[in-house]
Amino acid sequence: MSKPEFSILILGGDGIGPEVTAEATAVLDVLSSHPNSRATFKLVPRLFGGCSIDEHGVSVTEETLEQGRQCHAILMGAVGGPKWDGKRRGFEGPEGATLRLRQVTDVYANIRPAEYFPGGRSPLKEELVRGTKFIVLRENCGGAFYGPKAEEPDYASDLWAYKRSEVERIARMAAHLALSPAVPVPRVISCDKDNVLASSRLWRRVVQETITKEFPQVKLVHQLADSATTLMMMKPSSFNGVVVADNTFGDILSDLAGVIPGTLGVLPSACLADIPVKKWGDKPVKGFYEPVHGSAPDIAGQGIANPIGAILSAALMLRYSFGMEEEAKAIEDAVNMTLDSGLKTKDMSGSASTKEMGNAIREYLRKRH
Ligand code: NAI
Ligand code: MG
Repeated sequence: MSKPEFSILILGGDGIGPEVTAEATAVLDVLSSHPNSRATFKLVPRLFGGCSIDEHGVSVTEETLEQGRQCHAILMGAVGGPKWDGKRRGFEGPEGATLRLRQVTDVYANIRPAEYFPGGRSPLKEELVRGTKFIVLRENCGGAFYGPKAEEPDYASDLWAYKRSEVERIARMAAHLALSPAVPVPRVISCDKDNVLASSRLWRRVVQETITKEFPQVKLVHQLADSATTLMMMKPSSFNGVVVADNTFGDILSDLAGVIPGTLGVLPSACLADIPVKKWGDKPVKGFYEPVHGSAPDIAGQGIANPIGAILSAALMLRYSFGMEEEAKAIEDAVNMTLDSGLKTKDMSGSASTKEMGNAIREYLRKRH
């Protein structure tokens, strides 16, 4: 039987984006060149963000958007930097590339695992963060980011609106993830501001109806988004499960959760257009994967960026888009073994280069896989 070939749009982007993405694609090469590999990967590289503005005059070309629609998944580095700051904002700037690609691929569910890493430099006390493992699930295609906008010199507005169908699908995703092995307890913590926002009242009602009716085995808790921020820092493990929120609150809560491991450099993210693939052989699910960090212009070109966030993003892609759970786990294990061996990049108070970290992870992967 011939192996399936998965096509992946590779968007290194700006700053450290291409450096860390190269380490992640090299990990995919190790998997696909293995004699027992289940699949091969067709990598389709394109310019994206600031580098695309320089080359093509736009942050993303129509051709690249079309590749985004056609490929099975997208692996992105990061976009933006001081070179393009101030000149163009929003949809016109480098970040507009990400907004447009998300919109055309309708990847409505943004998943960011927040986990305590022993090697990290969490500013929170070790005894506070130990045992913390949750996912922040952010609604990614609606709310204030995409609603109609008005912008005049003395007046501006963003419409923060949700439809029932948009809340239902993210609630289902939250429950699905809460029942997966990615979190230790089948629990959904839904964050909103139903005391002041009408869209939050719809949110709370629909999340409640959907989860209690369709997923009775999932424990559902509602929490106000502002007090959730305090509790997340005071008692992070009390969020173990899935924290679900709309586009705005989810943006804030997911960045806040980034404090837990202590460095942005190790955090992966996924944006999905549908419930993840359940098992090998099922139809791939379109996903957009990128490390949580930005283009880090302060360290770009020095070869010292931590590639772990990008490599773990590739692992999420294998799991969620392709149903390659064993391979995803093998990558995650290789990362953990590398960290256990004491190898650390500069952001983790070590001295390993981007390449050394990538090579070490691939060495463990070759031994195991
Ligand atoms: P950033 O995440 O790029 O950097 C924040 C700090 O973390 C910097 O000191 C940086 O050196 C460090 N850092 C980030 N990633 C690292 C890694 N892999 N290894 C080691 N250290 C790492 O955020 P910042 O500085 O706010 O933004 C820089 C640019 O990136 C801006 O233009 C911003 O718009 C863009 N950005 C893009 C994102 C994306 O494309 N998804 C997300 C966040 C920011
Ligand atoms: Mg953010």
